Amino acid sequence: MVGDHVALIDLVPLDAPAPAVKVAVFPSAGLGTRMLPASKAIPKEMLTVVDRPVIQYGVEEAAASGIDQVVLVTAAGKGAIEDHFDANHGLEAALEAKGNAAGLDAVRRAASLASIVSVRQARALGLGHAILLAEAVVGPQAFAVFLPDDIMDGGDDPVMAQLLRVHARFGCSVIAVERVPDDQTSRYGILDVIPVSDRLFQIRHMVEKPALGTAPSNLAIMGRYVLTPRIFEALRATRPGAGGEIQLTDGIRALLDREPVLALEYVGRRYDCGTLLGFLRANVELALRDPELGPSVRAMVNDALGPRD
Ligand code: UTP
Repeated sequence: MVGDHVALIDLVPLDAPAPAVKVAVFPSAGLGTRMLPASKAIPKEMLTVVDRPVIQYGVEEAAASGIDQVVLVTAAGKGAIEDHFDANHGLEAALEAKGNAAGLDAVRRAASLASIVSVRQARALGLGHAILLAEAVVGPQAFAVFLPDDIMDGGDDPVMAQLLRVHARFGCSVIAVERVPDDQTSRYGILDVIPVSDRLFQIRHMVEKPALGTAPSNLAIMGRYVLTPRIFEALRATRPGAGGEIQLTDGIRALLDREPVLALEYVGRRYDCGTLLGFLRANVELALRDPELGPSVRAMVNDALGPRD
């Protein structure tokens, strides 16, 4: 399979920066089976990491990267996500009456991060299908995609902002990648690339979950993308793949024949909150790093690890 796309489309920097990307799609309609039973009645995107739902980290990253509209793709039973980012005047009035300024700030902040639009995916027909449903809102402009399971901690430089800088320079789609150990490549979409500059690559081909020992590199696709609107056309032409779902990677693979697609090895730390261990790690590490909670959490962890008599 590797080598299918040797005729790379020329990568040419733009004369002027591409228009700023202002819209982000958050596909959140998946079943979340790996987080059962917690995700049975509560969307996995709403499970708490430290003091806020997983998805809020992504929306905060979007806002910090200059994005002002968020398109949630949700499904039956996921209404709590929409409620979380909506105003709640009753709760605000109650907090105001009690003089609870911190609570009021927290409640208002969630509703003021971005303007929110939601579309529904009636059946979980795949990530690619979920993104296609956002077309009616996004229209013919480049847009960002956040997989809400992945909390990306880029410190002072949000991971999406890193991707957007590359998009501004070249005007093409940019995918976040991370190097994974050789024995883990079979769990990810893996890229065959040629280097462009430090941490930046042009994608030649991509392989979904390659069998061990067959991966073309150890660059794995992670949950942040900037996509040109041509992806919609490509997804419409994509037939259901693995599991009968329309896969985003199949759509991006089709894009490679028509325009350059870049991969950026971002700087930051990723927490995969779609798995139990990743979710627990996010809670422990982010709580330890929280300036207020950190010292008490450290004492608590040390106590739990300490000798027992
Ligand atoms: P996952 O592969 O993590 O699937 O989807 P999932 O259903 O959410 O979780 P598991 O595997 O059953 O535990 C990747 C992203 O794509 C979204 C999910 O919500 C998640 O953000 N997605 C997936 C959709 O929005 N619709 C789909 O049909 C499938």
